[in-house]
Amino acid sequence: MSKIRSVIVVVLLWCLASTLFVSAQTRKQWQNSPDIERRVDALLKQMSQAEKVGQLNQYSYGTPTGPATGRSAVEDSIRRGEVGSFLNVTDPALSNRLQRLAMEESRLKIPLIFGLDVIHGYRTIFPVPLALSSTWDAGLVERVSRIAAEEATSAGIRWTFSPMVDIARDPRWGRIVEGAGEDPYLGSIMARAYVRGYQGETFGGPTSMAACAKHYVAYGGAEAGRDYNSVETSERQLREVYLPPFKAAVDEGVATLMSSFNTINGVPATGNEFTLNQVLRREWNFRGFVVSDWGSVGEMMAHGVANDLPTAARKGFLAGVDMDMESNAYFRHIADAVKAGQVPQAAVDEAVRRILRVKIALGLFEKPYVDEKTAITTLPAANVAAAREAAEKSFVLLKNDAASGGGPVLPIRPGVRTVALIGPLADSRADMLGTWSAQGKQDDVVTLRAALEARAKRDGFRLLYAKGTEIRGTSDSGFAEAADAAAQADVVLLALGEDQSWMTGEGASRAFIDLPGNQQQLLERVAAAGKPTALVLFSGRPLALTPVVPRVNAILEAWSPGVQAGPALERVLFGEAAPVGRLTVTFPRSLGQVPIYHSVLNTGRPPIGLDLTRPPTNGGEKYRSRYVDEQNTPLYPFGFGLSYTSFDYSATQSNVQQISAADLNAGRGQVRVTADVKNTGQRAGEEVVQLYIGLRGTSVARPVRELKAFQRVALGPGESRRVEFTIGRNELAIWQRDTTYTVEPAELTIWVAANAGSGTPITISLK
Ligand code: BGC
Repeated sequence: MSKIRSVIVVVLLWCLASTLFVSAQTRKQWQNSPDIERRVDALLKQMSQAEKVGQLNQYSYGTPTGPATGRSAVEDSIRRGEVGSFLNVTDPALSNRLQRLAMEESRLKIPLIFGLDVIHGYRTIFPVPLALSSTWDAGLVERVSRIAAEEATSAGIRWTFSPMVDIARDPRWGRIVEGAGEDPYLGSIMARAYVRGYQGETFGGPTSMAACAKHYVAYGGAEAGRDYNSVETSERQLREVYLPPFKAAVDEGVATLMSSFNTINGVPATGNEFTLNQVLRREWNFRGFVVSDWGSVGEMMAHGVANDLPTAARKGFLAGVDMDMESNAYFRHIADAVKAGQVPQAAVDEAVRRILRVKIALGLFEKPYVDEKTAITTLPAANVAAAREAAEKSFVLLKNDAASGGGPVLPIRPGVRTVALIGPLADSRADMLGTWSAQGKQDDVVTLRAALEARAKRDGFRLLYAKGTEIRGTSDSGFAEAADAAAQADVVLLALGEDQSWMTGEGASRAFIDLPGNQQQLLERVAAAGKPTALVLFSGRPLALTPVVPRVNAILEAWSPGVQAGPALERVLFGEAAPVGRLTVTFPRSLGQVPIYHSVLNTGRPPIGLDLTRPPTNGGEKYRSRYVDEQNTPLYPFGFGLSYTSFDYSATQSNVQQISAADLNAGRGQVRVTADVKNTGQRAGEEVVQLYIGLRGTSVARPVRELKAFQRVALGPGESRRVEFTIGRNELAIWQRDTTYTVEPAELTIWVAANAGSGTPITISLK
């Protein structure tokens, strides 16, 4: 009997243990854990007002911008419980020293949380996010962000200000490089992948890092592409374009959000009751906390909605920003605002609760310190391999024509005797890292030149290198050497593009989006040699490549590829790996076309059927939604990318000709769509098969095409595959003014296509 009893006890204990284990495993469980809430309650009861307000402050360590200026003052602030978080502490010894002050010398022993911009890797730097999105590979993005989390947490960083999920459609904006491009569907898939990767399966595991979806919201809509500029957007556009990736991140369990710098229809995003308290908290039930962007609480004075810092503090706080990054506004003024009856005590307690909830869930109370001995300082080989793989998959082949008398220029044929490598990006380590490169080191970077030199030795070809010019250069003194190298070569590789730190990322908007400096002139000079020429383009945004395209045989968009730039490029250029990336941003023909993106409305005067390659010659041609001096279509559409093989699409088929909107609204029924995709070339390749829809006859005008699904298929030469998609309520419902989503009776057009500019549609009736 006693034996049976002990078996039962063991089984019960096992069940209990596995429940605990399962709860720790669940990415979102922490948000509604009674245990965590009890611990928060207990802490809140003991906290003084100063200690509560302390949790709402984040300082950048060592930056002399606040009351905590200077080391000793910071230390005393921590002892008094007046700091909740630091950003920019990357030395594990320093982070332990500061943490010890919080854990051993402060009254309530509430741990600090250390945050950093770990945007595309921590120590091992991967391609920039725009490049990562071009892989259309969520699994890869998740792996990359998992690696970043493993490396960063090894140095004590448990919070990253990533992912940046701002939809961006204006290539003038420098921060377009930090996101996943122009499309809310793809942006949502990527948002989820980053959150899964950073936070891990076990939020609270030792390598789990709180993610931060930023910048909430509509920051990418900056007028004229000028950073920090105002945003005017309709609620529909907000709901259907800018908000969905944030919603996806919240649904995936993201722990924090960052409010953005911009105004939204006149109201600063950092003081925006509607987007923060209404949408994020009440509608989406977000349970983590919101941090301001750097100084964005104080910037409400410059926006003109607060005449002093106390007002700015109050506005940000009441709108739902819990933590103040570097404005020193909450620290100085929230307690007084409570005393004056302008801020309810309950609001302070709630903000503290949200912050403590995340700290407890992350396991910071149990494991506040980092093991200084195991901090990753050199690049693990497996991470380097992942960096190469990610880079290879992020390159987008935009053009690959035959040079006179030969086949396509890429891949470079074996047996090539002389290769000329020309341009200021061929050997620039700093530019390969890209913007926000955390603890990445230039010494880790293998440039294209270094990789080709090694290969030239191995394969026995001659490599001629000429820098040609500087990225922002004006002197043509290097042109002759470059032209000379080209004249001697069988194949010319041009490595041109943008200065990654000056021209891409924050505060790096450009009014011109062509090749900077005199690189276009260099290109023309080199092209005059008449050799098979491929341009490897390093940019953080779509450039207007119209003058470039006719001068070169091939263009490979390489973005900022990270530490393994050279090896990845070398493998793709020589054909060991094929280009598999696809654009997630539209490439314009000229600057005047921007903002440009695929999911536009039709307008009342679409220029359908007109020849837009020439100016209008009569009124019928002129009074259309067009330019008199430029085409409407982009140079390269969203979703575009070539391969070293070719693919054919069969006609799209669907299982129904008609379907009931009412049924769809009730969650019944779906449309099944299929198409056969065939590899018609000589090499294996991968195609990203994309599904677009359009709706007509609806209560509001809908985009001519919207991406709703995609699948990556790998096909051997001659191989064919049937690709199947299902479309239902989620894909077809439209946001309504009463905030519901409804499928409306309409004519539904569907494309299964290689990109947003191709494919033959079929039509289905939504009755
Ligand atoms: C940027 C944020 C970043 C923050 C902290 C701000 O200037 O807009 O994206 O996370 O600084 O470094």
